[in-house]
Amino acid sequence: MVKHTATSVVTIDRYIIEEEKLHPEATGELSGILYDLALAAKMIANKVRSAGLADILGATEDTNVQGEIQQKLDVIANEIIIKAVDHGGRLCAMASEEEPDIIQIPDNFKCGKYCLLFDPLDGSSNIDVNVPVGTIFSVVKKITRGTRGEMEDMLQPGRRQVAAGYVIYGASTMLVYTTGRGVHGFTLDPSIGEFLLSHPHIRVPNSGRYLSVNDSYERLWSDDVRALMRRYRGLDGQRAAMNVRYVGSLVADFHRNLLGGGLFAYPSNTKNVKGKLRLLYEANPLAFIVEQAGGAATSGDMRILDIEPTDLHQRTPLYIGSKGDVDIALSMLGKPVVDEIPLAAR
Ligand code: AHG
Ligand code: MN
Ligand code: MN
Repeated sequence: MVKHTATSVVTIDRYIIEEEKLHPEATGELSGILYDLALAAKMIANKVRSAGLADILGATEDTNVQGEIQQKLDVIANEIIIKAVDHGGRLCAMASEEEPDIIQIPDNFKCGKYCLLFDPLDGSSNIDVNVPVGTIFSVVKKITRGTRGEMEDMLQPGRRQVAAGYVIYGASTMLVYTTGRGVHGFTLDPSIGEFLLSHPHIRVPNSGRYLSVNDSYERLWSDDVRALMRRYRGLDGQRAAMNVRYVGSLVADFHRNLLGGGLFAYPSNTKNVKGKLRLLYEANPLAFIVEQAGGAATSGDMRILDIEPTDLHQRTPLYIGSKGDVDIALSMLGKPVVDEIPLAAR
């Protein structure tokens, strides 16, 4: 395989084709899904860039299956992705954060052997204030008989993923993905409308400077989690203090830690014992990516990629990033979340 450097001018389509050639048994279906997702990413980037001008900021009157108010861009991004991939004949079904059930392929389109699970717009609460948002996707192979996708096809552990990636709509638009042969980043050149290879073979440092956690939930954490965060902050004298950076968009926080090293944590708490983040289309794809980059991802109890899913929208606590920093979490966690301790009792 040609070892590209960031100075080679390689489009994502070219890179996908070269990766496909490494799999003699490849039929090109997975490559086709990645092409379609890159197209969807360009279309969503275009909407995000001009959101303030085209009256598509703000919320709809609807709430999604998560019980969250749907932002207009959530709905637009959801539609863009579905319409970009539903007719290619590579998928047998999809699942989206914005849809309660699995999304079947329309009758007039051919079904394929893959399932796509996605968070069309991550970090929605940041849209109106021009803070980076993202898209996250995961691809698994169909395991049930028949042509149409079933819930069982969606509820596979993350170690069964064949591809995963995210798009970050930030200062620049980047698409980062893995198919199990390393992690590669592409930056959109808006002047030619192409994603160009900018970050080949991304590796996450074994420990890092950045801690990303929303500590407004501190009073809801268990004592173990509180002790863990004190450790990361250098308050117990066991290690140097990490710098806290928390954007509130998982993709933005994850991407910074992937490139620079560090840890993102969304712990279990007494209000959300499983935390807030969704396993199938947030934690699993990012866990696949971070492990492929030499990092780690745990729920605190187990490796994210080994969690056996039971529900499409199930949540999981998440500690993800540099392996050395995740190992500290594993060494200090393990007790269940305790009931909320009245503040006066502290
Ligand atoms: P989404 O917009 O897809 O619902 O995801 C939002 C998530 C994630 O992006 C971010 O890390 C987290 O919500 C922030 O939650 P808090 O505001 O509770 O910290
Ligand atoms: Mn999200
Ligand atoms: Mn979302």
